[in-house]
Amino acid sequence: MKKQPLRGKKVLITAGPTIEPVDPVRFFSNHSSGKMGYAIAEVAAEAGAEVTIISGPVPLQTPAGVERFSIQTAEEMKEEVLKRLADSDIIIKAAAVADYRPKVVQTQKIKKNDHELTLTLEKTTDIAAEVGKRKKANQIFVGFAAETNDVEKHAIDKLKRKGMDLIVANDVTLEGAGFGTDTNIVTLYDANGCVKQLPQMTKQKVATELIAVIGERLHD
Ligand code: PMT
Repeated sequence: MKKQPLRGKKVLITAGPTIEPVDPVRFFSNHSSGKMGYAIAEVAAEAGAEVTIISGPVPLQTPAGVERFSIQTAEEMKEEVLKRLADSDIIIKAAAVADYRPKVVQTQKIKKNDHELTLTLEKTTDIAAEVGKRKKANQIFVGFAAETNDVEKHAIDKLKRKGMDLIVANDVTLEGAGFGTDTNIVTLYDANGCVKQLPQMTKQKVATELIAVIGERLHD
């Protein structure tokens, strides 16, 4: 039997993209496949945790023993996360949430004409920042940072702004890292700086490393 460092713990994970409707046939989204979040869910469940995943639309199988709630928009993800926050010991936000959405969702398909089309976008709620504000001292909050430049600086800034305990930074410009791939290249930071720098490895192995670090922090 494998070691179960998260036995008895409740883990809430977000994964995949959100999609933000423009009209009945169009939406804004991103390239998240859900692979990173689902790998973490699988490893956390194997580590003995009771795992809930709040997932954007991805064609992945829910890992054994994991409870999944499917959402489409950032607003729906926020509702599902905040509903379960108080009852979670560990919160891991691997989803790629839309930062903006169309201010007005057209009820009928927008028709093409000869002119430019201008859409006004409004900000979505930053779910991670909300979690950071409400989080209790005995909860561990882990965020992700998808960066294209100055990775360490932006990641640590995000960790502090959003009240995270740990942040997993990936430079999504690197081959074999970030969106859609089976592998990732990440560095874990906390408020004191680098905790662990990992070479390219499968998302499954990244998840194992992350859960090990969380397990150590739980028992410190
Ligand atoms: O799904 P895959 O194809 O496997 O790809 C994995 C991944 C690249 C999506 C993943 O590794 C990753 O980096 N996830 C976070 C992507 C992201 O949106 O990063 P960000 O730097 O924009 O956001 C920082 C943090 O705030 C994230 O934890 C994000 O979930 C959260 N956030 C962002 C915006 C928002 N409105 N609400 C949020 O909670």
